[in-house]
Amino acid sequence: SITRHYTFNVEYLNVTRLCHTRNILSVNGKFPGPRLVAREGDRVLVKVVNHVSNNVTIHWHGIRQITSGWADGPAYVTQCPIQTNQSYTYNFTIVGQRGTLLWHAHISWLRATIYGPIIILPKHNESYPFQKPYKEIPILFGEWFNVDPEAIISQALQNGGGPNVSDAYTINGFPGPLYNCSSKDTYTLKVKPGKTYLLRLINAALNEELFFSIANHTLTVVEADAKYTKPFDTDTLLIAPGQTTNVLLKTKPYFPNASYQMAARPYFTGRGTFDNSTTAGILLYKQPLHHSSLKNLTLLKPTLPPINATNFVANFTGKFRSLVNAKFPVNVPQKVDRKFFFTVGLGTSPCPKNTTCQGPNNNTKFAASVNNISFALPSSVSIMQAYYSGQANVVFKTDFPATPLNPFNYTGTPPNNTMVTNDTKLVVLKFNTSVEVVLQDTNILGAESHPLHLHGYDFFIVGQGFGNYDPNNDPAKFNLVDPIERNTAGVPAGGWIAIRFKADNPGVWFMHCHLDVHTSWGLRMAWLVLDGPGPNQKLQPPPSDLPKC
Ligand code: C2O
Repeated sequence: SITRHYTFNVEYLNVTRLCHTRNILSVNGKFPGPRLVAREGDRVLVKVVNHVSNNVTIHWHGIRQITSGWADGPAYVTQCPIQTNQSYTYNFTIVGQRGTLLWHAHISWLRATIYGPIIILPKHNESYPFQKPYKEIPILFGEWFNVDPEAIISQALQNGGGPNVSDAYTINGFPGPLYNCSSKDTYTLKVKPGKTYLLRLINAALNEELFFSIANHTLTVVEADAKYTKPFDTDTLLIAPGQTTNVLLKTKPYFPNASYQMAARPYFTGRGTFDNSTTAGILLYKQPLHHSSLKNLTLLKPTLPPINATNFVANFTGKFRSLVNAKFPVNVPQKVDRKFFFTVGLGTSPCPKNTTCQGPNNNTKFAASVNNISFALPSSVSIMQAYYSGQANVVFKTDFPATPLNPFNYTGTPPNNTMVTNDTKLVVLKFNTSVEVVLQDTNILGAESHPLHLHGYDFFIVGQGFGNYDPNNDPAKFNLVDPIERNTAGVPAGGWIAIRFKADNPGVWFMHCHLDVHTSWGLRMAWLVLDGPGPNQKLQPPPSDLPKC
């Protein structure tokens, strides 16, 4: 293993999409941002230099950050933001992971344009547990806004209503031909016949889970969130923000008389405004010059599920299983030390005095919560810096409830009072605690899938179901043999998932819905995992260049 050095300059970039030119925030003048490539076992140093007027942080989404939580990146959780003309070097080692992840800004909505792929190759002498691909192609889904997303979210938080949606979804930064003024901005993947390609699919969109399909081609899922899966074939994938999925694409053995559209559009069941538009790209078989002209090719289009296809989603997510073999064993906690039952969903909070809010009920603001608590971030220090320097008590509380403050029928009629409490409460875990969390969607303001992301860990999804979780009967059906291990998983609309992980990584770890609008409304919380007794079981001391607030 080696040490890899990167410099990420956060700088302005003029980008035109849908006939709108915007001066966006970028890394190194690229949109989407540059690839971070490393091998399992490598140490990575990324010097992030802030040349823009916004404060910024970068999160290495899905990197476990064993004892290196100072490099994790969520603003006000593990670090203060990097201010204008300042820099910070993220320093971490990639342990026990190989596959695809993503990096993105982790403050406000800056990840709308500041995101890129993390590609972790196997160690030098190791190979993939599937056919060696001819080529590897990152495919990043995103969203394009004709106006500054920062203005959209700050206005929404002020007036209490739902934010405006984006103007297009994108594939590798391009909205594609189905949008006005966009046909030139189409991503084209050129392929040869008779080859196997590895597509590294990454959903970096802010607020939408997406269906994805390529016309007349079957995709074989081989990896999710940098963990190998038992391979399975599918025509359509669902991929939530923060999730990554590697698929094999076998091209046809001959030059076809067609080109094939690839397309993505949202899965959405919640209430409020949404955008049902479709981003499209082209899979093009690159013919030798003497073959018939490309212009005569028929364009074949894929069929995507309807926008509210919850049954498709449940069936699809149920297909993911860990690979499990001698080289890649899984270590599912069979016994649990601490159990939690978290409700996740929307809610309301009171409008400040003497103002008018456009929230869901008369003069209220939209809010979102875990166990009825809408998590408040500090603003003058990060939680982990406060913890490390012994100021824990003034910055956060440690009594995050193990069960919701207001129990009710989670999928039935919503309660009359949907108000949340604003607070900064953490769960404290002793090192190596085996944890089980049941995450239950509440039906408040509509059943909606929430892609929950846990920092610093991968977790096993041992169970999922619709309706209310039943603690007497559901655990008997848990999969403790080959459950999939991920860092982001959808809590089903009107249902629940059960996850397990072992708290073997000391530090402060954020957990939140990866739909940014829900995070902004407070669907977030944090775990404090204490140091263990061993030498490699302690949070390292903070680096000397760790930003101050
Ligand atoms: Cu990819 Cu806390 O996020």
